[in-house]
Parts: sequence; structure tokens; C-alpha cells
Amino acid sequence: MAEEKKSQQGEWSSRFAFILAATGSAVGLGNIWKFPYITGENGGGAFVLVYLLCVVLIGVPLMMAETMLGRRSKENPIHTMEILTKEAGADHNWQYLGWLGVTAGFLILSYYSVIAGWATAYVVKAFFGSFFGATPQEIKAIFDGFVASPIQLIFWHSLFMLATMLIVARGIEKGFERSIRFLLPWLFALMILLVGYAMSTDGYFQGLNFLFKPDFSKLTANSVLVAMGQAFFSLSLGMGSIMVYGAYLPKDVSIAKSSMFIAGADTIVALLAGIIIFPIVFSHGLHPNSGPGLVFETLPIAFGNMFGGWLVGVLFFIALVFAALSSSIALIEPAVAWLIENQGYSRPKACLYSGLLAWFLGLGTVFSFNAWANFKLFGQTIFELLDYLTANLMLPIGGFCIAIFAGWIMKQDHSRHELELPDDKYYQVWKFLVSYVAPAAVFFVFLNVVGVL
Ligand code: TRP
Repeated sequence: MAEEKKSQQGEWSSRFAFILAATGSAVGLGNIWKFPYITGENGGGAFVLVYLLCVVLIGVPLMMAETMLGRRSKENPIHTMEILTKEAGADHNWQYLGWLGVTAGFLILSYYSVIAGWATAYVVKAFFGSFFGATPQEIKAIFDGFVASPIQLIFWHSLFMLATMLIVARGIEKGFERSIRFLLPWLFALMILLVGYAMSTDGYFQGLNFLFKPDFSKLTANSVLVAMGQAFFSLSLGMGSIMVYGAYLPKDVSIAKSSMFIAGADTIVALLAGIIIFPIVFSHGLHPNSGPGLVFETLPIAFGNMFGGWLVGVLFFIALVFAALSSSIALIEPAVAWLIENQGYSRPKACLYSGLLAWFLGLGTVFSFNAWANFKLFGQTIFELLDYLTANLMLPIGGFCIAIFAGWIMKQDHSRHELELPDDKYYQVWKFLVSYVAPAAVFFVFLNVVGVL
């Protein structure tokens, strides 16, 4: 492959821009909305520990692998897998891996946009002072009333999807970079402020205990799977988002360092969210396992009570919406890049079609919270099924295959050359993790859930 090849979609203007965009993709609803509620549902500390192990042992090596594959081919994930398969002289079936990723991205985006719509609606609620002086019960009633209304959910879901499509339509440099640059530091600063509030509550230590003190009796096979799935979901792994961003990555960037930075930042934001939310839960006698509404039922309590809570609340939800946007653009980009590069669509047209499809699929999630709340397959609503199918099955399976591809199929010379680690020792560690540890971990967790182990 010619060294000077660049992606058709342009390149990041700097190393910083790539890190920013990949961090933007990783940090999102997964950290602030999903991590706390699944930690609550799965018993706390032990779950968090498994999650952290998965980030270090599977997440970081895999993020390096995905970035590397993308940068080598400089193409969309489907094409990347085709090109690299040929280059390695491997079986052509590997290219379906790209398809799996694009499909997972669509399915995730469909519900992601609905939840991001909730966050958008909460900007407005915070702005009009809905939480001011409200009791926890009233705040829960606001949430329940809101999700019971399909019209409202559809409105905010549509607005969020439209924003995603518009940003992606403008192309990677103009659209992506500018929109991500300002919000991550803001989100972080606001979260630190909220930790201050959490420390002032009666339930602070109880919250910390819940989050960090492992009680292994609470750990089931399924919660291990959920923890692993969350590591994939939160780091945006297993479906080609990071691969696509890697394709826009200039040659002189250290893949190892940026992967560690991104995983570190992502993990810190998730833990901060937990440190903020659980003290509020315990101070007000709420339940940690109240499900997807958890963030929306707890944080407004802080905003309604703390000094300057109106401003903090408005800014926080704005920052959350932007963090979600920088993730949703990563979810849609693999499909968009494929439509442009393989099907010859213009960028705006590719965005329009993929956005409309994901929007339509999202209606299933909208109705899961109201009209179809009692419609269940395998005991789960459409939203729960989509989430389980993508985060707990498709992403780990995609990740497993990517690990095998990077560790076993791709030529060593090529991966060594792309990663350019300062010492061959580090390369060997990476190779071991990606060839053995990551695939074996995914495999055993699956066996465990199926009940074979
Ligand atoms: N990581 C994002 C979050 O935590 C969501 C996301 C973006 C994602 N791109 C992804 C999840 C790719 C899985 C795969 O909010």
C-alpha cells in the first residue's frame, strides 16, 4: 500500500484533533447515563471492578488494534476489512466484519438518539426552573410524565438526529473538530463542581462504598457480560467507529499513547458520574437500580438544591447533549463513509439516508417507554433488546474478531510498523493481549453466560 495514501474524507488537522475526536466519541451517554444505571442494577463495586479490568485488558489493546487497522487502509470499515484481508491473503469472509460494525452502529444510534433527546429536553426543563425546590418524588414524576409521551420523545429524538446529520454532512474537519473542541473541558469542569455537591450530601460515603467496595456475591455471569459490553460501548469499540477515526489519522501519531489517554479520560468521566449520582441516590432514599431514568431522577435533585444549581443544571445538560453529539457522529460515520466511498453518494445525501433510517428505527425505542412498554420479547422491551443485542453481543463479537484479525491474521511486520512502539517489549505485550487475552476473555464470558462454564 502506498505510504502517502490519504483518506478521501480528509485528515485530522493535528494529533490533538484526533485525540479530541476519539475522546469525544468515547465520552458520551455511555459514561453519564448508562454506566451509573447499569452499575446500580448490577450491585456496584464488583461490577465496577470487572468493568475496569475489561477496559485495561481488552479495551486498550483493542483500541490500538482498531486505530491501526483504520490507519493502514485509510478507508471506511467495510472497505478496510476488504483491503486488509487481501493484503494478508486471508479468507474473504473477514470482510463481513465491517458489515457487522456498520449494522451495530445503526442500531446503537437508533436508541442513542432517543436518550440524547431526553438530555436535550432536560436542557429546556432546567432552563425553565422545573427542578427548583422540587422533591425527589416530584422530579421522578417529571421524568415519568415525560417518557410517557411519545410525541415529546419523538420531537426531541428528531431534533437530535437532525443535528447529528447536519454536523456529519459538513465533513470531518469543519464539522467535527469545531463542535468537539469546547465542550469536553466544560463537561469535565461541571462534573468536578457536582462532585463538590455530592460530597456535601449525607450519603456521600455510602455512595462511594457502593461504587468501590466489591461484593462479589452480587456478581452474576450476566453482570460480567454487561460489564464487558459496557467497556466496549463506552470506549466505542467493536464496530468501526475508532477504525474510521484511525483512517483520518496522520502517520506521526503514537497509537499507544493516544489509546491510553482516551481510555483513561473515558474511565474518569464514568467514575465521576458514579461519584456524583450514588451519593444523591442514598441521601434521598432512592434506589440504585431504578434503570435508564437514574441520571434524570437524581441529578435534577442536585440542581434544585445546590447553590447556583440553575446555571449548573442548564450548562450540564448542554454539555451532555454535546458529548452525546460527538458520540452520535462517530456512530453514523462508518455508514456514511461507506455510502460515499462505495456507493458514490454525496456526503449530504449519505447523511440524509443513514440518518433517516436510524431515526425510523429509533421509534421502536420511543414506544418502549410508553405505548409498547408491555410488548416484550424474551422478557425485554425493544429498547432493552436493542441494547442487549448491540452492547452485549455485537460489540464483543466484533471486538473478538478484530482482535483475532489484528493478532493472528495481519502480518506481524505490518502491525509492528503501524504501531511503531518505542521498544519491541511493548509490542510483544500488545500482541499477547490482543492475540490471547482479549479473545479468550470474550470467549469465556460468553461460555459463562450460556451456562457452559
Ligand atoms: N462511546 C459512546 C458513549 O459512551 C457511544 C459510542 C460512540 C459508541 N461510538 C460508538 C458505542 C461505537 C459503541 C460503538 O456514549
